[in-house]
Amino acid sequence: MPLSPTMTPSPATDNPFPPHFVWGVATSAFQIEGAATADGKGPSNWDSFCRVPGAIADGSHGDIACDHYHRWPADLDLVAGLGVDAYRFSVSWPRVQPQGSGAWNEAGLDFYERLVDGLLQRGVQPYLTLHHWDLPQALQDRGGWAHRDTVHHFVEYARGIARRLGDRLASLTTHNEPWVMATLGYETGLFAPGLKDRRAATQAAHHLLLSHGLALQALRADGCRSPLGVVLNLSPVQPASDAQADIDQARLDDGRLLRWYMDPLFGRGYPTDILAHLGADAPQVQADDLRHIGQPLDFLGVNYYTRSVASASGPWDAAQSGLPLTDMGWEIYPQGLTELLLRLHRDYPVPPLFVTENGGAFPDTLSAGRVHDTARSAYIAAHIAAVGEALRHGVPMAGYMVWSLLDNFEWASGYAKRFGIVHVDYATQQRTLKDSALWYRDFLASQCALRAAQAATPPGV
Ligand code: FCB
Repeated sequence: MPLSPTMTPSPATDNPFPPHFVWGVATSAFQIEGAATADGKGPSNWDSFCRVPGAIADGSHGDIACDHYHRWPADLDLVAGLGVDAYRFSVSWPRVQPQGSGAWNEAGLDFYERLVDGLLQRGVQPYLTLHHWDLPQALQDRGGWAHRDTVHHFVEYARGIARRLGDRLASLTTHNEPWVMATLGYETGLFAPGLKDRRAATQAAHHLLLSHGLALQALRADGCRSPLGVVLNLSPVQPASDAQADIDQARLDDGRLLRWYMDPLFGRGYPTDILAHLGADAPQVQADDLRHIGQPLDFLGVNYYTRSVASASGPWDAAQSGLPLTDMGWEIYPQGLTELLLRLHRDYPVPPLFVTENGGAFPDTLSAGRVHDTARSAYIAAHIAAVGEALRHGVPMAGYMVWSLLDNFEWASGYAKRFGIVHVDYATQQRTLKDSALWYRDFLASQCALRAAQAATPPGV
C-alpha cells in the first residue's frame, strides 16, 4: 500500500466507512495529566518507577507532563476543533481513590466529571478507560496485579466510576493492553513495576482478565448503560523465514500475545499449547475464573502499531527488513492491520471492533509555528485505508482513533519520542497543531461531507 498523506475516499459510493463509524483521538491519564500530587491524588506505580535510576530513558517523570489537569478546557477545544466524534482518555485510579481501596477523593472525581461534561458540551463522545497502567502504589506495595486482592479492588473502583459517570459515557473500557502490563511490567521489567518474574507475570495477566470479567458483570448488575469492553495490543505474528523453527516460534509468540487473551475472553479458556509451554509458571486459576472472564463484550478495542516477526534465533532486528521505520524503530506495516482484523473476524465471534490506538513517533521539528510531519500523516492515512480494506471484507469495524492527541510522556522513552498530532513545547506548554492534525481534520471534514451525501442518497442508488 503506498504511503500517501493525500488519501481522500470519494465518491460516496466508494467510501468503506459507514455513517455511524466513530473517528477519534486518544490519550491516557499518566501520559498527559501531570499534577502528580494535586488535590489529594495518591502516588501510582508509574510515579514510583520513574524514580528508579535508569528506568526512563531521559530520566523524566510524569509530575507535570502536558499539565492537562490544569489545561483541559483548552485541550478539549483542540479535540473539538479537529472534528472528531470521540475522545478516548483514561482515569487515574490513584487520583480518584488514592489508596486503591476505601476512601474516594472527591476532587479527583470532580475533575473527570468536568472532563466528561466538557466533552459532551463540545459535542464529543467520551470513551473512558478505567486502567491505562497507573495503579495506586498502595496496591502495588501489596503485590499489584500479581495479588488476587487487586482484582476485587478493581471491581469496586470500576463500580465507583460507573456510578458517577456511567450515565454519560459513550464507551467504558476496563483495561488498556493487559499484555503490556503483565509482560513488560512483571516479566521483562521494562515498565512499572519493573519486575522480572515470569510466574508473577502470568498471574498478573490472569488477574487482569479476571478483574475485567468480574467488573463487566458488576457493572451490568448495577445497571450501567455504557457499552463495555477491553482494549488489547495485537499484531499479526509472522515467521522470519520458512524454517520450521521460525514457524514454531511464531505460533508460540502469537499464543502469548493474542490467543492468551482472545481465547479466554471468548470463552475458550487458556490455549493448551501455551499452558504447556509455561509449565510451572502457568497461573493459578480458581474454579469459575474462566467463566467470569468470558463475559459478552459490547466492543473490542485493538491497538495496532506494527507487525511482529518471530525468529527462533533471537529478537528480530526491524532494521534488516528494509521497511521504513518510525522513531521507535518500529516497521511501518499498514497491511498488517488488515491482516490482523481479518484474522480476528475469522477466528473469533468478535463484537464491533475499534482501532483504539494507531499512530507513529517521528523526529518532528517545530519551525515558524509549523511541524511538517508528512510521514505521520502518511502513516495515519495508510492505516485508515487498511481499516477500510477490512470493512470491505466484512469485518465489523466501528471506529478508529489516532494515538495521540498530544505529544506526551511515552513511558520508558520519556519525552524523547513524540506521538502527538499536536506538538507540545514542554517548557511553555504551548500546543501547536502539526500538519498531521490539519490533515486529519480535513480528512474528517471529507468524511462528514460523505456522510451527508450518503444520507441524501436513496437506498439502492
Ligand atoms: C501503547 C500505549 C500508549 C502509547 C502507545 C505508543 O502501547 O497504550 O499509551 O504509549 O503504545
